[in-house]
Amino acid sequence: MRSNRIAVVGGGVIGLSVAWRAAAAGHRVTVVDPKPGRGASWVAGGMLAPIAEAWPGEEAALRLGEESLRRWPAFAEELAADGGGPGLSMAGTVVVALDRGDADQLAILADYLGSVGRAVETVTGRRMRIVEPGLSGAVRGGLLVPGDLAVDNRKLLRSLRAAADRCGAEFLAEKATEVAAGHVTTSQGDLTCDVAVIAAGAWSANLHPELKGAVRPLKGEILRLRARRTSLPPPSRTVRAVVEGRPIYLVPRADGELVLGATQYEAGFDETVTARGVRELLEGAERIFPGIGEYELVEIAAGLRAASVDTLPFLGELGDGVFAATGHHRNGLLMAPVTADAIVAWLAGEKPPEGVEAAHPGRLR
Ligand code: GLY
Repeated sequence: MRSNRIAVVGGGVIGLSVAWRAAAAGHRVTVVDPKPGRGASWVAGGMLAPIAEAWPGEEAALRLGEESLRRWPAFAEELAADGGGPGLSMAGTVVVALDRGDADQLAILADYLGSVGRAVETVTGRRMRIVEPGLSGAVRGGLLVPGDLAVDNRKLLRSLRAAADRCGAEFLAEKATEVAAGHVTTSQGDLTCDVAVIAAGAWSANLHPELKGAVRPLKGEILRLRARRTSLPPPSRTVRAVVEGRPIYLVPRADGELVLGATQYEAGFDETVTARGVRELLEGAERIFPGIGEYELVEIAAGLRAASVDTLPFLGELGDGVFAATGHHRNGLLMAPVTADAIVAWLAGEKPPEGVEAAHPGRLR
């Protein structure tokens, strides 16, 4: 295999994963990003949950998410060797419902999952409280999804950066403004390369004409909390819920932190945390896990998901050695392993993993 000069535009979870894997495969890699390891990946909750986040009509995203989830344990193990453990939690996920409307939505999800051969266990509120004792008495039922996992996004980003460094990737702290065959234009000049990979998340659309209008920012606000000595311990699994039609989730970290996410708004490139967003999250979380009201509020933040028109990412060649690895919608952390493996396969002239074909950018033409 010829070693290519690869420019990876974007240093979030996707760009860093691609950079690490490509550098480990022997390519000369430069990551172009003014602040690698930040952006939406830094704000994220860390759910790796293709089943709990599935929805009718999104079968291709479900298949791709499952393929990536299957790769996560080996990805985490190799990363631990190259850059440090990313904090992969195998504790599983539960999905809970409070009122009639939320329970109806959950029934739609369970029926859909059964119809596509991914039956999940539906349980009563009482059983759910045996599984997760801190849940409110108002929880009327839910689903057990032991195979949906979680990762500590911040540990992951640090590990990926260390692994990419260790494998020889270089970092250029500049903002890319355009990507074309053989070069990346930045605020400071031009970088030449054999292959360019656009992994710039919500900022990808303006970098290449083929992505114009295909990727847009989708704002999410998120809170980080910590149990105090006198408060109830956090749940031991990820708890996902729909409260009055709005999805929220609680993701426990091994260090005792509890991540509460996330709002979802079309707000352009606005990254302001709003009072309404914080209120919605806390009100929703208290209704499913009342003990959270006593927690220390450690951080509030907002990030911009790279939303795609059909929730599937854009993975594939845009033309002339420019590849897209963007538009991962709500699933950037989940789909990092399969995305990196796809790019490395293409660089080697090999077939990408199962399910990647459906994400080809040409589908929107
Ligand atoms: N995957 C969860 C979110 O995007 O909020």
